[in-house]
Parts: sequence; C-alpha cells; structure tokens
Amino acid sequence: MGGKSDIKLIDNGKRIDGRSLDDTRNVKIDMDIINVADGSARVEFGNTIALSSVYGPRELFPRFMQKPNTGILRAKYNMAPFSVDDRKRPGLDRRSQEISKVMVNAIEPMLFLEDYPKSVVDVFVEIIQADGSTRVTGINAASIAIAAAGIPMRNIVTSCSVGKIEDSLVVDLDGKEDNFGSCDLAIAMATETREITLLQMDGAVSKDELKSLLEKAENTCKKIFEKQKEALRNLYKK
Ligand code: CDP
Repeated sequence: MGGKSDIKLIDNGKRIDGRSLDDTRNVKIDMDIINVADGSARVEFGNTIALSSVYGPRELFPRFMQKPNTGILRAKYNMAPFSVDDRKRPGLDRRSQEISKVMVNAIEPMLFLEDYPKSVVDVFVEIIQADGSTRVTGINAASIAIAAAGIPMRNIVTSCSVGKIEDSLVVDLDGKEDNFGSCDLAIAMATETREITLLQMDGAVSKDELKSLLEKAENTCKKIFEKQKEALRNLYKK
C-alpha cells in the first residue's frame, strides 16, 4: 500500500482486470480438500488461494499449556515461498505472526471454547498463491473449515478487503491495488449479527469515505457469506 504506480489502476470506472468498483474477483470454494484434517477448505479470490486445515478440539500438549476452564484457539498463517513471483523467504516473520494473531481474534468470539477445557483447536492457513487480500481469504477459509470440522460456532465469520485507489472506493483489492492504492481496510464480521471481529486499516481516508467503505464491506461480506453457506450446504448434501 502507498507506493507510487506508473500503472493506471482505474480507467473509465473499470479496474485493471475489468472489474467495476464494487465487484469482487471470482470467488471459488472447495471443501474437504485435506483428508487427514477434521475440516478443511480451499478458498480462491481471483489469483489469491488460501488452504485451511482444522484439527480439534483435542487435548492440548504439553499439559502446562492447558487451561483448566476453557479450550484455546491457535492459528498459524503462512505464505508459501512459491506463492509470489519474487520468492518469499520461508518461515516465521513479523507479518505472518501478526496475521496469525488477528485471525485468532477474528474467529475466537464465535467459538464455545469454554465447553472444551484443556483442549485446543488448531487452525492452519497456507497461502499457496498471493495476489492481495490474503488475510481475509484465509479467514474465510478458516471459518468454514472450522464449521466443516463440526465445531459449534455462534456464526460463520466472513471477511473482505475494501480500499481507496486513485480517488475511488473499491472492494476486494488485488495485489497491485493493495501495493499502489492509498488505503486498504480488512474487515471480518458475522454478517447475521453485524458483529465486527477484525478491522485493520492502512493509509488514510476521510470520515465519510470510511463510512462508505464500511457499507461496501458489509455488502461484500453478505455476498461472500452466501458462497460460504452454499459450500457448506453442498458438503453436507454429499
Ligand atoms: O495479503 P494481505 O492483503 O492481507 O496483506 P498485506 O500485508 O497488505 O499484503 C498485500 C499483498 O502483498 C499480499 O497479498 C501479497 O500479494 C503481497 N506480498 C508479497 O508479495 N510478498 C510478501 N512478503 C508479502 C505480501
């Protein structure tokens, strides 16, 4: 975000890939893609692809980490070294630690962890192809992988990005838009209750623009939530 671009990101109301301002990229969801997991999902937002694999609730080892009155949620976000064209350095970095942490915050309020003392729910998110909005794609995948694992949830968490590029407010930023736009905002919410569990913003917008971005985010999350529900329905029909 915030770089200077020679590329024109918006031309005649259309974005580089032909989308209009309020269009998401093509969203594709596949369930149960990892057989050894309790629940798993693959979510694509255009060229961004996130895999999520969920295990638990299961007894937490080593035992000293257990909490006697509640279970815990752990999340691990990782961007594969081959997910971007300029090979990303493998392993833990500050960005993946931060994203793992906000993923826990985004999802934890929806779980009944107090029903699983001494246990852990492990959520892994691997970004195998990165083209912007990877954290929100990962949260969408994690949320339905948890549901597919049969772990009770208050609500499904749905997530999207919105932002400002070249004076226009847009939804679902791709990599170039994220890099060269002037603001990007990631949001996660339970669309049915309108509870917001993640709100991160990079860059600056006016108060009115922020209001408008939040409206766009809610509308976009509603559309994505429909796709999440459809994917889960198809899984249970099988
Ligand atoms: O991916 P997300 O929008 O959640 O997070 P970001 O930190 O704002 O990164 C924006 C985009 O930059 C990513 O989606 C990737 O496409 C790209 N990126 C990259 O190419 N190499 C990295 N080491 C980190 C990010």
